[in-house]
Amino acid sequence: MENSPTPSASMNEVLIHTEAGVCTLTFNRPQKKNSITAAMYTALADALQAAQADPAVRCVLLQGHEAVFTAGNDIADFLQQPPTTPDAPVFRFLHAIAGFPKPLLAAVCGPAVGIGSTLLFHCDLVYAGDNAAFSMPFVNLGLCPEAASSLLAARLMGHQRAAEALLLGEPFMAEAALEMGLVNRVLPPLEVAAHAQGVARKLALKPMASLLETKRLMKAGQTPQVLAVMAEESVCFSRLLREGAAREAFSAFMERRRPDFSKF
Ligand code: COA
Repeated sequence: MENSPTPSASMNEVLIHTEAGVCTLTFNRPQKKNSITAAMYTALADALQAAQADPAVRCVLLQGHEAVFTAGNDIADFLQQPPTTPDAPVFRFLHAIAGFPKPLLAAVCGPAVGIGSTLLFHCDLVYAGDNAAFSMPFVNLGLCPEAASSLLAARLMGHQRAAEALLLGEPFMAEAALEMGLVNRVLPPLEVAAHAQGVARKLALKPMASLLETKRLMKAGQTPQVLAVMAEESVCFSRLLREGAAREAFSAFMERRRPDFSKF
């Protein structure tokens, strides 16, 4: 058993633990609702790269805590170091999950905001607590979708339900996510991590070459389109991040007030 600290994310804000063929990556910044900083994205991208190369890792499980998966991008950190280039840490992380060849699982409890929801489109198996609340409030933040969610949300939910989630930014709960097919199973929050870990260990016992080929074949048809959409989204996202509406939304969040978009 080993919890290795990552050099780039301070104070073990991403925990990396490999056991029985399963590499578990844990968002570990509960005081800030597991919101993700650039340093954490770098740690996650590096960990996925290492997991891909390590024959002892047969699958990866992403998780938060029983009360919160992640509140998405750390807003203050985003303002200080906005992602402006395709090699920015957040985009490195998104590419790492979109192209990850081994099975990728997630255990989600509590809020899963922004990238906390969109990363799930790239997971193969998702287990949710009955307290899971998914939201993609990009428009409410003056931004646009990322992680190819502008393509994958509509593909999964249908255009109208995706519009509720992406244009209105309305959250949806675990049961709705189950019905849409975004999650495999809903469990009591205290059981989610153990259940997901059990499924991951079951996968880890299967023949690796078959897992790799099966996932590759399942994804092959859509991968080029996903990468193209992600590239286009990242250009829009970076541009909108520098514009007034996003600045107003982020300031409003920091000042704990409602944003005023009347000028934008
Ligand atoms: N970025 C930075 N800090 C964040 C954060 C984020 N995305 N989400 C939460 N935090 C911080 C809060 O500022 C607060 O810090 P403080 O204690 O120093 O004041 C702390 O985490 C607790 O958050 P709080 O809002 O009080 O918790 P809550 O339980 O009432 O609500 C959420 C939880 C996740 C619903 C709420 O924090 C939220 O909506 N966060 C913003 C999510 C978001 O818009 N993310 C998308 C970014 S692109």
